[in-house]
Amino acid sequence: MIVKSLDHLNLISKKISNHLSKRDCIFLIGEIGVGKTTFTRHLINNLQKDRKLKATEVLSPTFNLLYEYDIKGLKIMHYDLYRIKERKELDNLGIFSDDLDTIKIIEWPDLIKTPLEDKLEIYLNYTKKDNEREMKIAGFGKWKNFVNEI
Ligand SMILES: Nc1ncnc2c1ncn2[C@@H]1O[C@H](COP(=O)(O)OP(=O)(O)O)[C@@H](O)[C@H]1O
Ligand SMILES: [Mg+2]
Repeated sequence: MIVKSLDHLNLISKKISNHLSKRDCIFLIGEIGVGKTTFTRHLINNLQKDRKLKATEVLSPTFNLLYEYDIKGLKIMHYDLYRIKERKELDNLGIFSDDLDTIKIIEWPDLIKTPLEDKLEIYLNYTKKDNEREMKIAGFGKWKNFVNEI
């Protein structure tokens, strides 16, 4: 699918956010600057608006590795694992051993194997146009058929 603009990206993130529930996991795959954090920002802001909360800043967790959002009891864990090069470091983060009743959004998930069933893999690529991206989505578990609705 071609994502024509930021507005279009927002629309897609909205469809996905309407379907999100705890224990979901979203993998965001693609080069630096392609839009992984931007997608996450739209997604989180949409969830906040839906729940009548003010949209907050959603920054890239490049250095912190993790930013958490509590959206009226719905907990979002936004990871950026770009700097993680070894599985040992990953184990220390305890992504899947701590609180499983959260939504996990993970940039650079290359080293990860998730035990969670409901997973969405989003692949982003550049196109020749500045504000356009190519997006491929693979859904697992509850997301399997949802992919066709986007
Ligand atoms: N259609 C689009 N989808 C996603 N990002 C876009 C799009 N058009 C322009 N952009 C811009 O591309 C940049 C993506 O940066 P960012 O989300 O930080 O990338 P990443 O997290 O993948 O490194 C942002 O400046 C964003 O405004
Ligand atoms: Mg990013």
